[in-house]
Amino acid sequence: MAFNLAMYPVSYVAQFNPAAGTWDEQWFQADSITLAELSAMDDAKRAEVYAQRNRFPLPLVNYTTQYALGCFEGMKAYPHKDGSLSIFRPDRNAKRFYDSMKGLYAPPFPEDLYLKASVEFLKRNRELGYVPAYDPAWEKDNFAGASAVYVRPFMYSEGAIGIGSSKAPYVIICGTTVSSYFKGANSKAVITDRIRATPKGTGWIKCASNYVVSSLAKKEAEEAGFMEVIFLDATDRKYIEEGSSCNIFFRLKSGELVTPALGDTILPGITRSSAIDIARGEGVKVTERKISIQEVAKKCVECFVTGTAAGVTPIESVTWKGKEYVFNGRKPGELGAKIQAILKGTQYGSVEDSRGWNLTV
Ligand code: COI
Repeated sequence: MAFNLAMYPVSYVAQFNPAAGTWDEQWFQADSITLAELSAMDDAKRAEVYAQRNRFPLPLVNYTTQYALGCFEGMKAYPHKDGSLSIFRPDRNAKRFYDSMKGLYAPPFPEDLYLKASVEFLKRNRELGYVPAYDPAWEKDNFAGASAVYVRPFMYSEGAIGIGSSKAPYVIICGTTVSSYFKGANSKAVITDRIRATPKGTGWIKCASNYVVSSLAKKEAEEAGFMEVIFLDATDRKYIEEGSSCNIFFRLKSGELVTPALGDTILPGITRSSAIDIARGEGVKVTERKISIQEVAKKCVECFVTGTAAGVTPIESVTWKGKEYVFNGRKPGELGAKIQAILKGTQYGSVEDSRGWNLTV
């Protein structure tokens, strides 16, 4: 299943208690329907169960619904052949979530609570049969069509109105089963005129507001026949930043692999950092630096985007000012495919986890 709202029955809800300085935690179980029972239902009944699981009594008017002052994480857990399940680098997501909340001047959610709750979330839903089982058929295409659990922790403000920062935020963890994210007949990207992030803004935070411009630009790109959109920097209007929900890499004729350096306008992607490590481990020179669209147009031979949802997805071409620059004869490049194979293999347990990235649930 691609990205979807077929939510698992058990969710985690915590709220910060400012007086006590602690987090009040609770488990919210919408129903006890197992996956087998749900699968036997007719479509209308099943849709009602899913809709019910997406309802929870939270304040309607608050900093998140009114001013987009909220942040979230995207994390995946992968089934292995031996029947185990492992979360990929959840410590990194816990840290980024902490940093995002701090960046929004909300009391940050402790990393140890994040990890404990994420593991427990998976255990509780697995007991009801909701974690996909490993399928050896996934190995045929290097797990390209494989399923995983998408875990979505997010921050949601307490009831509030007027400009301010959240003092008693909720942290919710919910999830669904997912497979590949990008859909569509091509893997073409287009440079947009829109600006995703500005210096001193919130581009480095995984906050809801960043995705407003991303959604608009992505819709425009899709309507024009592209799979993905790419943003340029706000100051010089020439340096590549990232996609609508992913970081980006370019392999140049020299063999160098370049990705835009982190700063206050780029999301510190965990797949991005993993791809850098893997490529370096394969002896590739990887540089985190500014790269202009002009340099891409002249020197790039392979391009791919990375993200938790996106994985490592090849980009066949980039269109800029109406001209299309095609990479590797529109075929997925060798380096991206190698990184993807090592990454997916590690995540699904077919490649040894030599870097200690998996946390077994
Ligand atoms: C992810 O890659 O998991 C994200 O959180 C981005 C999302 C907007 C698809």
